Amino acid sequence: MKDLLVRAGRPDELGVVEALLREASTWLASRGIDQWQYPPHRDRITEALERGVCFLAFEDGTPIATIQVDSFADPEFWTPEDQPDAALYVHRMAVTRAASGTGIGSRLLDWASERASAQGKRWLRLDAWKDNNGLHRFYKGAGFTLLRIVDLPHRRSGTLFQRSTESVAGTACERDSVAGFSTSSSARTARQRATSVARPASCLRPGWPRAAPPFPLPSKYDELRYGP
Ligand SMILES: CC(C)(COP(=O)(O)OP(=O)(O)OC[C@H]1O[C@@H](n2cnc3c(N)ncnc32)[C@H](O)[C@@H]1OP(=O)(O)O)[C@@H](O)C(=O)NCCC(=O)NCCS
Repeated sequence: MKDLLVRAGRPDELGVVEALLREASTWLASRGIDQWQYPPHRDRITEALERGVCFLAFEDGTPIATIQVDSFADPEFWTPEDQPDAALYVHRMAVTRAASGTGIGSRLLDWASERASAQGKRWLRLDAWKDNNGLHRFYKGAGFTLLRIVDLPHRRSGTLFQRSTESVAGTACERDSVAGFSTSSSARTARQRATSVARPASCLRPGWPRAAPPFPLPSKYDELRYGP
């Protein structure tokens, strides 16, 4: 198994993330699947990059996947009874076709679980395209439980999945390395990014910075919508 390096994408890597998502859209269209048949939401991706929650995965220095992981629980899908704060949420995961079929998606989900667990979250959650059985099979195969389908006429997504973060605790970080960076102009932003990509406490090696508590998200962030 090749090493996988996962780190937060930088704002100047918008094009890299877009290219990965566009390739996924093209692949889906070629299979007659209507998921993601629109241009990537540049504004939302830009916001996510600026907040350090849009990640890129690299194999041998080549970007092969992207995943967004954050605490945004879409209020159209997740109710107070779901205890939305008890989870991190996956959005916009895509693996390039050249690297697909080797388990990268599962490894990224495990990595996201570790991240959630390190933040004291009980669940890793996501909403998936409502009527895409192939995609639902993928998540079930990765150990996710289908909670319910929220069938809103203006949303194509709405099949809700979750998996306990305990199910993979302490495994992903043994395989996949996580790197931080600090290229931003402001020290505060750099600190925020370093926090957002900190290794889970259970994975810290000597020399790694200790994980700090997650930084508070600005209220603007709460207003963002992720799903189509
Ligand atoms: C989901 C994804 C990241 C997983 O990557 P991976 O670990 O390399 O796994 P694969 O691409 O080999 O997919 C695993 C299986 O799920 C299926 N699958 C994955 N995404 C699918 C989708 N959106 N619709 C239908 N089937 C899908 C694949 O066809 C494959 O099925 P098979 O085993 O019968 O061949 C990748 O398939 C992808 O980029 N999909 C398109 C984007 C997407 O749907 N992202 C998730 C949004 S919620």
